[in-house]
This record gives sequence, structure tokens and C-alpha cells, in this order.
Amino acid sequence: MDEKEMLSAGWRSPSNIALIKYWGKREGQIPANPSLSMTLSQAFTETRIMVSRTPEMSGIMSINGVKAHPFLLKLNLFYQWFLKEVPVFNGLTLQIQTRNSFPHSTGIASSASGFSAFTLCLLDLASKLTQVHLPEEHFFQLASYTSRMGSGSACRSLYSGYTVWGRTTLIDGSSDVFSVDINDRVNRTMEKLQDAILVVSSKPKSVASSLGHSRMNQHPFSGARVDQAHSHLAEALTALKQGDFEHLGSIAENEALTLHALIMTSRGGDILLDPKSLLLMQRIKQARAGGLPVFYTLDAGPNVHLMYPQSASASVRDFIQKELIPCCENNLVIYDHLGMGPQTLKN
Ligand code: DP6
Repeated sequence: MDEKEMLSAGWRSPSNIALIKYWGKREGQIPANPSLSMTLSQAFTETRIMVSRTPEMSGIMSINGVKAHPFLLKLNLFYQWFLKEVPVFNGLTLQIQTRNSFPHSTGIASSASGFSAFTLCLLDLASKLTQVHLPEEHFFQLASYTSRMGSGSACRSLYSGYTVWGRTTLIDGSSDVFSVDINDRVNRTMEKLQDAILVVSSKPKSVASSLGHSRMNQHPFSGARVDQAHSHLAEALTALKQGDFEHLGSIAENEALTLHALIMTSRGGDILLDPKSLLLMQRIKQARAGGLPVFYTLDAGPNVHLMYPQSASASVRDFIQKELIPCCENNLVIYDHLGMGPQTLKN
């Protein structure tokens, strides 16, 4: 590419929520156990990268025009790894424009959507620079492999619907280094799963995921946790195949409780739940006992994801308005659902 030329690529990539949690990893972003997630739709990142050759400058110059953006440090670490794998970017200058669909500071993890969108742009640019165009399936598998190095959960955002990351004997072709799409094993009734994100607190996470993962190395329950994740995955796959919403829900809730129990019993002894998170979890359980088809999950923070089938939307929204909204910061609920995966942005 010569000095006057400017190439650009843009992608929208969704966030995902894990039903079987990735918690604990080994060197090289190898997960301690397989995880299963649903790709979201309304919570996404849109990123565009412009590359050019500028004399005596190279690397990431700015994010949204800002040279000292808070995300730059983590992005640069990942980019240094990427440069060694894809040296065609050596000597090039990158300018990044990016935005999240979810309101700023909602405490919703943006690293999965952020790193998957960034990686898709880089790989798209790599094929423009080298004129090597991979078949679609290989392109997304490579994007999953690559984005994992930025943030583990990002590798599950490359596909629509349900995705598994981590080697398991239950799924042919499953891998520790990229995720696989498992939608051909899912009952059609599960295709319309809804996720209402109940925003309890918009404060950034008090414990970084990377620190939480590393604490699992010395955790007294780590062996049992890995065994549990494998058996939960087997049960969740059966529930998804049979369209057994109740069974899937019971596993997902147990996974969320296990995740927080592991965090609380780690060396740091952190409590990432808010009293309002507990109240929401109890109210959801009570509503289920009263016949409403709902279950919850959480990631490593206080916000509660309320899951339900589309057929119950009207009654669940009513339940949220009457009983759950008072626990949400600024009454904020983000209504999301199973999504279609990443898409390229027009120029
Ligand atoms: C609790 O993917 O954020 O959300 O690989 O260190 O970037 P890094 O961690 P990250 O961990 C996500 C943990 C989780 C569970 C999950 O998404 O599976």
C-alpha cells in the first residue's frame, strides 16, 4: 500500500451471555472448561478501522480521535500479538472509530463485542491488503481464534444463536482455541429466547475478569468446578435439543450462583452482587414458582439477565414493570434476544 492510499473496514459484532460460564484459564487463553453462550442482538459494538501508511508512524494512533483512550492499553497488547501473527500490518497506522449500542456505562461487558468487532475489521483489512480471501466459514473461525486472544468470551460472539467454546467430547470439532456454532443441535422452540438485562448498577467492574480467572488457579474448588461445567454442558445440550426451557434455566441459574460462589471464596474474597441483585434473583424464583417461565443468569457483576421464551413476552414485561424495575438503576432495562451474529458495515 502506498502513502496516499487509505483502506477501511467496518463490522458490527454482538455481545453474548454465557449460560455455562468460562471461569479460569491457562496460558495462551486456553479455558479451564467448556462454556456455552447465547449471542445477543441489541447489545453490540460497531467498529471501523482506517489504515494508512504515514512516514515514521505506526500502530494504533487513536480511538474515536482520542490518543489516550482508556481501552487503548488492552487493545495495544492484543495488537502487538496480532502483528506477530499477521506481519502485513507492520509499518501501518490505524485509526479506530467505535461505538456501543448499549448506553455508556451500563456495566454491561463490552469486551466480547468490542474485541470481536475489532478482530473482524483487522482480518477484513488483512484480506484486502494481501488479496487472499478465505471462505466464509474459515474467516469466522479465524476471527474466533484471533479475538480469543483479546478477550476469551469474544470468541463466542462470532456466530449466531448458541455457541460452545472449549474442547468437549460431546461436540465433534469443538476446540479450546475457537468456538463452534451448535445451532443444528437446538430445538426450534429455543430460537426465540429473550434476555431482559436488569441494570442494577452501571459502575465499572470492581474486579477485572483477568484477575478473577487467575484466582481460579489456586482455588480449592477448581477441580470440582471443571467437572461440574462438563456435566452441566451435557445437561444443557440435552435441554436445548429437547426444547426443555425449565431444565436449561435450572442449569443456567446454578452456573450463575456457582460463578459468584467461586468469586466469593477466591483469595480476594470479593462480593460482586448487590443487595438488589439478590432481591431480583429471589423475585424471579418466586415468579417461576407462580408459573411464569423465567430464569436468571449473571456475569461477574451485579446486573441480572432475565431469560424467557418469546411467547411469554407480554406477561414477563408486566412482571418486570411491576416488580423488578424498582431495583434497577434509573429504571434501566435493556430488552434483548437471541441474535444473528456479526455483520459487515457499509462504507
Ligand atoms: C464471567 O472473557 O471477560 O463473563 O478472557 O480475561 O478477557 P478475559 O475474560 P472475559 O471473561 C468472561 C467471564 C464471564 C463468563 C463468560 O462470559 O463465560
